[in-house]
Amino acid sequence: MSRDDIIRPDLSPLVPYAPGLRASQVRERSGRDDVLKLSSNEHPAGPFPQALAAMQAVLPRLNRYPDGASRALTTKLASRLGVDPSNVLVGSGSNELLRLIGQVVLRPGDEVVFAWPSFVVYPLVATMFGATPVRVPLDADDRYDLNAILSAITDKTRLVFLCNPNNPTGTIYTREEFDEFLARVPEDVLVVLDEAYFEFVTAREYPDGMAYFDGHRLIAVCRTFSKIYSLAGARVGYAIVPVVLAEAVHKVREPFNVNTVGQVAAYYSLDDEAEVRRRRKENQEQKVYLYSCFDRLGIRYAPSETNFVYLHTTRPAEVFEALLEEGVIVRDFGASSALRMGIGTPEDTARTIEALESVVARLGSF
Ligand SMILES: Cc1ncc(COP(=O)(O)O)c(C=O)c1O
Repeated sequence: MSRDDIIRPDLSPLVPYAPGLRASQVRERSGRDDVLKLSSNEHPAGPFPQALAAMQAVLPRLNRYPDGASRALTTKLASRLGVDPSNVLVGSGSNELLRLIGQVVLRPGDEVVFAWPSFVVYPLVATMFGATPVRVPLDADDRYDLNAILSAITDKTRLVFLCNPNNPTGTIYTREEFDEFLARVPEDVLVVLDEAYFEFVTAREYPDGMAYFDGHRLIAVCRTFSKIYSLAGARVGYAIVPVVLAEAVHKVREPFNVNTVGQVAAYYSLDDEAEVRRRRKENQEQKVYLYSCFDRLGIRYAPSETNFVYLHTTRPAEVFEALLEEGVIVRDFGASSALRMGIGTPEDTARTIEALESVVARLGSF
């Protein structure tokens, strides 16, 4: 046995998660100091004022461990969502919860079904626990084909990840489509509804995952404070799950998985519904403005229910580099012929539009 054999061979297909470029890297590379980072679906504004104050207030007490059960936040989320606290899991980002759910349910040989392209963590979670990722292509409009997902389910399927709205396309499946899906999905398959962008949605036909949660059916609803609440750096997410799943996750999670700063920030962020509505409205207005620019420039896009848009391009690498030269960082996907661009402030949108115009003028097309 060589020293390298110490590593599980089934992990070899995995590659470390590659985050989008950081603004500081691009500043160094381009010499520009007006770099716009639109690559990680973050909110352009800082955390809510109540959250900032609460975070500052706990700093002198960071010599103490956090509340390992995130009790105050758990109770508040439970009463807000109309569930029992025993159904609530709080994690270091919803990312941790996606992994923990995978850890407690997946066995080698299981299959995990999800749409593709979608959140890169789903195939990672499947593979890291010895399961097989099964990718089901989106349709020609970058939307979920829930019938195709149903057809991909076999006796080996343990888990289905549904990302609604979907990252990176921003598209949704409708209530009607989901009702039909749920009526047909086997009851012993866990359906994880990843609603990281829930608060940005304005479409009436969107199915709120919580309306389907009854505590018995194998449904998990995952959400996060990283997006509309601007707490990506504090790492807090939550999942609403049947008790059987919650009990298992509590056995394997880190005892102090959510830090004190994140817990208080999330707790106080929940008090400002008006700010959530304001941000949703502002985000929606930016998108409408951007769509008219895309139409004018002949850029094909998927109408989005999130704080990012998915842009089709025949020359992703060139467009990506040209936008970088304009000081705008978007997300590229290697071989894929699309780029994902986040929505910033109204000022950011104005600059983004200028950058897109100049790139299209320079390259001749998008
Ligand atoms: C669809 C989706 N789910 C989950 C996450 C994880 O977010 P976090 O771990 O910050 O809560 C993200 C982050 O970008 C995401 O896009």
